[in-house]
Amino acid sequence: MAQRRMNLQVPIEALFARRWSTYAFDTEKPVTREHLAACLEAARWAPSCYGEQPWRFVVADRFEDEFSWRQILSALVENNQLWAKNAPVLIVAAAEAFFTSNENPNRWAEYDTGQAVMSLCLQATALGLMTHQMAGFDAGQLQTSLQIPEHVHIMSVTAIGHPGNIDNLEEVFLSRELAPRNRKAISEFVYNGKWRNDWEVASGLGWEARYQETAAEQLPWYSPSLDPDIEQALHSISLTSAHVLDLGCGVGTQSVALAKRGFVVSACDISSSAIAEAGKLAEREGVQIDFRVEDILQSQLSGTFDLIIDRGVFHCFSDEADRSVYLTMVARLLKPGGILLLKCFHKTETHQEGPPGRYDEADIERFFSGRFELIRSKTSSFSSPASSFSPKALFCILRRR
Ligand SMILES: Cc1cc2nc3c(=O)[nH]c(=O)nc-3n(C[C@H](O)[C@H](O)[C@H](O)COP(=O)(O)O)c2cc1C
Ligand SMILES: C[S@@+](CC[C@H](N)C(=O)[O-])C[C@H]1O[C@@H](n2cnc3c(N)ncnc32)[C@H](O)[C@@H]1O
Repeated sequence: MAQRRMNLQVPIEALFARRWSTYAFDTEKPVTREHLAACLEAARWAPSCYGEQPWRFVVADRFEDEFSWRQILSALVENNQLWAKNAPVLIVAAAEAFFTSNENPNRWAEYDTGQAVMSLCLQATALGLMTHQMAGFDAGQLQTSLQIPEHVHIMSVTAIGHPGNIDNLEEVFLSRELAPRNRKAISEFVYNGKWRNDWEVASGLGWEARYQETAAEQLPWYSPSLDPDIEQALHSISLTSAHVLDLGCGVGTQSVALAKRGFVVSACDISSSAIAEAGKLAEREGVQIDFRVEDILQSQLSGTFDLIIDRGVFHCFSDEADRSVYLTMVARLLKPGGILLLKCFHKTETHQEGPPGRYDEADIERFFSGRFELIRSKTSSFSSPASSFSPKALFCILRRR
């Protein structure tokens, strides 16, 4: 089962990213007893308060005991029955509400039961199975039909099975099944040291996550050939051979196109996955490029370049301090008289998706004026075969003073 598109902020173990709640189970394919046992064993090793292990599971396998399985299925709300009817295994998870040692209420029983179910789900994922937990059921009906004692809290029903054919899904479930997965940002639920104090994720991790989870060709900024604005600028400034730095080169399409035009190219990006992809592309295309993993804001790069290409990097910096470091860095890396080709989102682009920085000519003039002369700018757009969205862009030719 392919991983679904998700707004990962930081790379994580593939197992976590591969677990998601499917609506499409293979109705014909049973879960083997060995696999089911492994899932229950994983739950067994979940941590619990005082080691109480308060979770209890009622397991029903349609291929072994269709009667019990139907009793659980019939207690689900109709919207859950519609898809859960294809899952070969249904597991009711419940929590013993009292500590066995002193019969005091166990306030953590439900917490611990959730941890055990998550362990079960992750083990299932590791085995190539799919899971889907549910709270939409009639607890009273389950209590009676499965003879669950009153003091035991029924927490969830989990469907387990092999991935099924999504073509058989009803429209409403199909659209949920295909939708990109979304989560709150880490900063919305993690506080640094005290309540409401922002906890920030280093931006490089976000880029790394993006490149790990998305095929190069699917990235919205992916351009297989040289960006036409860059192409035109190279003609207009009559630059045919020079030492170029492709800053924030991503998967290296622009670097490779420049090397093929006879430029000596160095390139850097903060994401090691992007640089690995870029290296492979250069090898396939038979060009030599000096690729490096480098955070331009903390760069060890030295050398005086004739030309720097920034296609979509400057606009990633949302704070003034980062923009200042950027300016110092590009000025240091360029020869006096050297050229910076800068392409960023235009101020008039209001689409929510995209970088935090959006600029017009006056902004660029003001920001770069001490160290650069703005030779020319024009409004343009970013386009990519991967996306129907062509955001408005500002393209600038700047000369280092
Ligand atoms: C306690 C619990 C109850 C849930 N109840 C239902 C449910 O009744 N029906 C359903 O379709 N999904 C249910 N879900 C699935 C959630 O909607 C799903 O986990 C959530 O949207 C995140 O998606 P993901 O699991 O694919 O990452 C439940 C999940 C949990 C943990
Ligand atoms: C919009 S993408 C553009 C990629 C590439 N220039 C292209 O046109 O395909 C922005 C790139 O900037 C890189 N980046 C962001 N911050 C960076 C930093 N501080 N140092 C180096 N690269 C950075 C990202 O990893 C990403 O590859």
